Amino acid sequence: MVFIPLGVPNDIDKYFYNREKELVKLKSFINTLNHDVSNQILLTGFRGVGKSFLLKKLINSLPNNILTAYVDVSNIYALQKGNLTEEEIMNRLLEEMNKSIGNHAPIFKNTYNSVKKLISKIKNHDYDFNEAGSILSIPIPQVKDNYQKLSQFVMEYPQKIVDSSNGKIKGFVIVLDEFQFIGELKSPESFLWLFRSYSQKQDNVTYIFTGSTSATSDMVDKLNGINGAFGNRMIQFNLDPFTEEDCENYLKERISEIKFNKTGLKRFYKCTHGYPAYINSFCNIMSDNVIYGENKVVEEFYNKLDQIAVKWITLWSSLSKQEKEIITTLIDNDQLKWKGLIEKTSFSEGTITKNLKKLKNKGIISNNNSFYKVDDYMLSAWLKHRKNEDLFYPP
Ligand SMILES: Nc1ncnc2c1ncn2[C@@H]1O[C@H](COP(=O)(O)OP(=O)(O)O)[C@@H](O)[C@H]1O
Ligand SMILES: [Mg+2]
Repeated sequence: MVFIPLGVPNDIDKYFYNREKELVKLKSFINTLNHDVSNQILLTGFRGVGKSFLLKKLINSLPNNILTAYVDVSNIYALQKGNLTEEEIMNRLLEEMNKSIGNHAPIFKNTYNSVKKLISKIKNHDYDFNEAGSILSIPIPQVKDNYQKLSQFVMEYPQKIVDSSNGKIKGFVIVLDEFQFIGELKSPESFLWLFRSYSQKQDNVTYIFTGSTSATSDMVDKLNGINGAFGNRMIQFNLDPFTEEDCENYLKERISEIKFNKTGLKRFYKCTHGYPAYINSFCNIMSDNVIYGENKVVEEFYNKLDQIAVKWITLWSSLSKQEKEIITTLIDNDQLKWKGLIEKTSFSEGTITKNLKKLKNKGIISNNNSFYKVDDYMLSAWLKHRKNEDLFYPP
């Protein structure tokens, strides 16, 4: 049996494959921090294509004079049970930045400790912080629930660290993963503008926004569209699935226990579309004492799709009844305009609007030329398969 962990494993180097071009590209954008030039980056790509893994690998391979912070907004959304707030995202950013400072910048031990205390006060909603009044000359939040001061502190903190380090620290790289969940805030625009307005003045802070979304989604537009917060100034690129050649080499080099003949290998690529998440979970259920030909691959794939698609099943079970019905209606009709959705579901206009927005923010559906469509290839493949087998969609 083969075992490949399906989350992003701790031992990244052991499991990470290739993406060398992407890493060179990302590193060169970050390298400019050494010359006090900061780039802002937007990385899109569908769920399971390998964005988080790539960025964790990137973070691991940066030199010691670049500090990093990684925050997954979908995780905060889940922990807050769907009530995402600006304040909580700021808290997490501060926490992650400070962790990096604590681990890699011993010269800032005192600052680290003060901010650590500040964080625990903020967590208890106690903004009456009696220490000196400022840390690194950034005013610290004092009034209860003073979100504005908190955000100012968090936004200024990374650049101040660089400025006060006597050249020891050259930059801060901050990753906001699954950023499209920011769309769930009351005012996503102003939250994104906050990043824009600070990053404009900061020469040593690189933000990497990334999310499971198409390159043309509403949130991408709000972030980097012509009228979006960054107005096209971000370096934007999409992460593609493995090519057929990448996939073949990956299997040969890393998972050589599983044997294919030529047509079997081709078929394997067709089934997985080159998505590393699917490749790995498919391999996990394959045997090492068979030579996989075309038919055997197809048989195994459909027999065990529930195991292969486990990540997508978890996603499915986290959705509300309304969200699910919208998705299955869209799958049944391939794509629909807003009016069509109203006709084909039993929901009010308000309910449809609310849930469409949610599903877009979760990176599951997209809107192109006023047609709504399920964006997530794997989710729709699994749902169609279940309907084929059971005659109804999974509840
Ligand atoms: N470069 C890679 N090499 C090996 N496996 C990968 C690679 N990228 C992604 N994977 C696999 O795919 C899974 C999904 O990747 P992840 O980075 O979480 O996708 P995304 O963030 O785009 O949704 C990972 O848990 C890992 O198993
Ligand atoms: Mg991810």
